[in-house]
Amino acid sequence: MIKEELMQLIQQRRANVAVIGLGYVGLPLALTFAKAGFYVVGVDSDEEKVEKLNNNESYITDVSNAELRKHVDSGRFRATTDYSVLAEIDAISISVPTPLRKTGDPDMSFIALASQQIAPYLHRGMVIVLESSTYPGTTRELVLSNLTENSDLKVGEDFFLAFSPERVDPGRKDYTTYNTPKVVGGITKNCTEVAAAWYGQALETIVPVSTSEVAEMTKLLENTFRMINISMINEMAIMCDRMDIDVWEVVDAAATKPFGFMKFTPGPGLGGHCIPVDPMYLSWKMKTLNYTARFIDLASQIDSNMSRYVVGKIQDTLNRFKKPLKGSTILLMGIAYKPDINDLRESPALDIIHLLLDKGAIVGYHDPFIPELHAAGLNMASETELVAAVEKADMVAIITNHSKVDYKMIYEKAQLIFDARNALKDIAPAEDIKVVKL
Ligand SMILES: NC(=O)c1ccc[n+]([C@@H]2O[C@H](COP(=O)([O-])OP(=O)(O)OC[C@H]3O[C@@H](n4cnc5c(N)ncnc54)[C@H](O)[C@@H]3O)[C@@H](O)[C@H]2O)c1
Repeated sequence: MIKEELMQLIQQRRANVAVIGLGYVGLPLALTFAKAGFYVVGVDSDEEKVEKLNNNESYITDVSNAELRKHVDSGRFRATTDYSVLAEIDAISISVPTPLRKTGDPDMSFIALASQQIAPYLHRGMVIVLESSTYPGTTRELVLSNLTENSDLKVGEDFFLAFSPERVDPGRKDYTTYNTPKVVGGITKNCTEVAAAWYGQALETIVPVSTSEVAEMTKLLENTFRMINISMINEMAIMCDRMDIDVWEVVDAAATKPFGFMKFTPGPGLGGHCIPVDPMYLSWKMKTLNYTARFIDLASQIDSNMSRYVVGKIQDTLNRFKKPLKGSTILLMGIAYKPDINDLRESPALDIIHLLLDKGAIVGYHDPFIPELHAAGLNMASETELVAAVEKADMVAIITNHSKVDYKMIYEKAQLIFDARNALKDIAPAEDIKVVKL
C-alpha cells in the first residue's frame, strides 16, 4: 500500500524531491527533476553555495545562470542548508563527495554524515537514492544502517533505498544528466522498482539491476575500465618515446580498425574526482577481502609517475636547446584536468607545477576557465597578456587542450613547445624541432 501510494505520487510528479549535495552531480540532477515538473529543494552544507543558487548564480560550468533562474523563478527549485525540510520530502537523492584520505583509503565521512542527517526525517513512503561513487556494499552496510539505527521502519516495505551511479561527464554536450542511461539497483526488488519509477519520470532511459551492489560495482567497472585504458595508453606513449615512434600517429592508425579497438589518447596523467579515485575504492574493498586488485594497482603506479615523466621531457627538451630548467620560464597552457571545464580536482597540472618549481623553474599558467589558482598550496593567477607571456616563456607546455585557445598564435610566438595533448597536430609540421610531443 505504501509503495503504491508513493508510486502514484511519483507518476503524477507530485512527490516532493530533495537533492543532498549540490555540486557537479547534484545541481544538474536537481534541475533535471525540476524540469520534469517536480518541486525540488537542494540541501547543501555550504552556505555560500546555497546563497549563490538562490540568487540565480551557478558555479557549475554545465549549468547556466539562465537555466537556474528559470527554475528558481518558477518556484520549482530552491536551496537550503536546513535538513529539517526533509520532513516534507518524499524522494531524496544524495550526491555528496567521496574523496580518498591521504592514506589512499576511502573517506566515507560525507556519506556517513549525510545519512545520519537524513535519519531523523526518515518516514513511511520515502525513497532515498545514493548517487556518490563508492565501494560495493556502501548503500546496504553504511547508509541503511545509519538510516535505521533509531527507527523500526522496514526497508522495501515502509521506505525504499537504492543506489544509482552518476555518469555525468562534465563539459559534454551530447550526453547530459537527462539522456545518459541511468542504472538503478535497490536494496530489495521493491526498492529498485520505486527508485526506477521516480528517476524514470525525469530521465530518458532507466536500466534497473537486481541489487544496489550490482549498481555500485557497475560504476566501478566503468571507471576502472577508463583508468586502466588511459594508463595503458600513457605507458604506450612512454614505450613509443623510447623507440622514437610517434604514439599519436600509432593511435590514429589503430583507430581505423572498425572493431575490437577503442581509441584512448595519451596525456599528462589521470585527473578529476572520479577516474583516479573510484578504482581505489574497489582496490581498498578487495584488500579487506584479502585480494589484491593488480590491474588497478599497476595503472595507479603508471599514472602517478606521469607528472615526473612530463617534467623529464620538458627538462630534456630545454637541455637540447642548451637551457637548464632552473631559472627557465615555463608557461603551462591549460591546468584543468580536461578540456573546456574549470575542474582542478586531481589535475596532473598541479603536480607538474610543483615539480617544476622544486627544480627552480619560473612557472606561469594560462587557463581561460581558471582565472585564479588557489589549490594544492599554490596561489597563482592566469596570464592575461597571453601573447606576451608566450613570447617571454622559454617553453610553453600544453597540458590541457581547451578549445578556446589560439594554438596557431602559440605555435608562431613560442620559443619551444611541449605538447602533451597533440593540440598542434594540424598546425606544427612534424619536422619542426621546436615542438616536442608527449
Ligand atoms: N564530478 C563528476 O564528474 C562526477 C561524475 C560521476 C560521479 N561523481 C560522484 O558524485 C559524487 C559527488 O561529486 P561532485 O563532483 O558532485 O562533488 P562536489 O564536491 O562538486 O559536490 C558535493 C557537494 O556536497 C556538499 N556536501 C558535502 N557534505 C554534505 C552534507 N553532509 N550535506 C549536504 N551537502 C553536503 C558539498 O558542499 C558540495 O557542494 C562523488 O561521489 C563523485 O565521485 C562525480
